[in-house]
Amino acid sequence: MSTNSSQFRSKLGLIAATVGSAVGLGNIWRFPAEAQAGGGAAFLLVYILCVCILGIPVMVAEFSLGRAGRTDVIGAFINVTPKKRAWSLVGWLSVITPTLISIFYMVVTGWTLTYLWQSLSGNLYSGVTHTGADMGYFTEKMNQYIRTPEMPLLFTVAAVVLNLGVLLGGVSKGIERLSNILMPLLFVLLLIFCGVAMTLPGAGAGLEYFLKPDFSHITPPTILSALGQAFFSLSLGMGILVTYAAYYPARTRLVRTAITVVVLDMLVAVMMGIIIFPAIMTFGLEGHGLAGTTLVFVTLPEVFTHMPGSSAWSVLFFMLLVIAAITSTVSITEVATRCLQDRLNLSRRAAVFWLMIPILFLSAVCSQSFSTLGGFRLAGMNMFDFLDSVTANVMLPVASIGLCVYMGWIAPRKLLQNEMTNFGKFRSRLFVPVLMTVRYLAPLLILLVLISPLL
Ligand code: PFF
Repeated sequence: MSTNSSQFRSKLGLIAATVGSAVGLGNIWRFPAEAQAGGGAAFLLVYILCVCILGIPVMVAEFSLGRAGRTDVIGAFINVTPKKRAWSLVGWLSVITPTLISIFYMVVTGWTLTYLWQSLSGNLYSGVTHTGADMGYFTEKMNQYIRTPEMPLLFTVAAVVLNLGVLLGGVSKGIERLSNILMPLLFVLLLIFCGVAMTLPGAGAGLEYFLKPDFSHITPPTILSALGQAFFSLSLGMGILVTYAAYYPARTRLVRTAITVVVLDMLVAVMMGIIIFPAIMTFGLEGHGLAGTTLVFVTLPEVFTHMPGSSAWSVLFFMLLVIAAITSTVSITEVATRCLQDRLNLSRRAAVFWLMIPILFLSAVCSQSFSTLGGFRLAGMNMFDFLDSVTANVMLPVASIGLCVYMGWIAPRKLLQNEMTNFGKFRSRLFVPVLMTVRYLAPLLILLVLISPLL
C-alpha cells in the first residue's frame, strides 16, 4: 500500500475543500428547480429537516470511516473490518459511481465554461437588443450549442484538463489551494447577486413564495425529493467524504466539521432561492421551467437582459457556476485517483493520468450525446441521460444504504465513537443519535427514495 501521507494543511482549507465539493450545480440549478416543484417554502422546510436530521449523521459516519481507514474508499472498508472483505464491495460501488458521475459532469462543466466564454466575448448577447430578448432566443441558442459537436467537445476537454491540472498539484497544493481561493469568491459573488435580487420590484413576492410555507404542499413526494436533493447536495454516498476525511488531521473535530459544511451548503441553496424567486416574480417567468438546464442557460440569461450591463452580470454568474462545478469535479475525481494510488501502488502523477485519460475519452464521447451520437441509446436514453439517471436513481442510493448499514451494524461501534470524540478527548452527546440514525432511519428512508419510482 502506498505511504501517501497527504493531509489538508489548515482547518480553513479543509472546510473550504469539503464545502467546495458539496456546493455544486446541485445547489445552484437543482435546488431552485426542486424548490419550485415542491411549493417553495414547504420544500425548503422539509429540506432543512432532512439535511439536519439525516445529512449530518450520515456525513459524520462517512468522515469517521474515512479518517479511521486512512486510505482510499475500498481500502477503508478492508482496513476497518479485515475479516469481512465482502463489504469492500460497497467501497467499489463508492468508487465506480462517482467516476461515472464525473463523466457527464465534465460535459456540464464544459457547458458552464462555454457560457462564461460567450459572456466574456459578448457573444451570448450578440443577437439581443436589451428590450427585445425572449426565452425563445436563449432556448434556441442552447439547443444550437448542444446540437453541434465541436464546441461541447472542446470545452469538455478543457474541463477535464483543468481538473487534471488541479489533481496533479495534489491534496494541499492542488485541491486545498484552489478551494481557498475559489470558495470565498463564490460567497462574494452570491452576496452580490442576493443584493441585486433584493432591489427588484418582485423581491417581496419572491421571498414570500420562498420563505412562507404553505403546509398543504408537504406531501410524501415532496419529502422524498427533498431527501434525494439533500443527499446529492451534501455529496453523500459518492465516496468523496470518505476520501477527503482520510486527509483530515487527527485533531479535526468531525461533528463540528460536518455541521459547518452542512450549514454552508444549505446557506448557498437558500441564497440561490433568494436570488431566483424574486427574479422570476419580477420578470413574470413563473411559468417557465426551472428544471435542468433551463434555469441557468435560458431563464437567467433572459433575466440579465433586463438589467443594465447584461454581459457583465452573466460573466459574474457563469464564474459562479464554473467555480461550483470545478470544486465539485476535483472532489469526485479525487475518489478514484486516491484509489488507484493506494490499490495499485501508483505515484500520484501516474494515478492521475491513468484515471483522467479514460475520463477524457469517455466525457468526449458523452459530450456528443445531443449531436453526433444522439442515436446511440442505452435503455432508451442517450449516454448523458443514461449516466445521470442510473447514478442518481440507483447507484447513489444503493451506495448510501450500504454505507449506513456498514457503519451502523458491521463496523465496530467503537470506531464511530472514537472518531466522533477524537479517541475520548472530549464527549459527544450526539453519538447515540448519530448511531441510531445511521442504523435505522437513514437506510429506511433512502430505501424509500430508491423504490419510490416503483410505487
Ligand atoms: N454536492 C454536489 C452538487 O451539489 O453538485 C454533488 C456532486 C456532483 C459533487 C458531481 C461532485 C460532482 F462531480
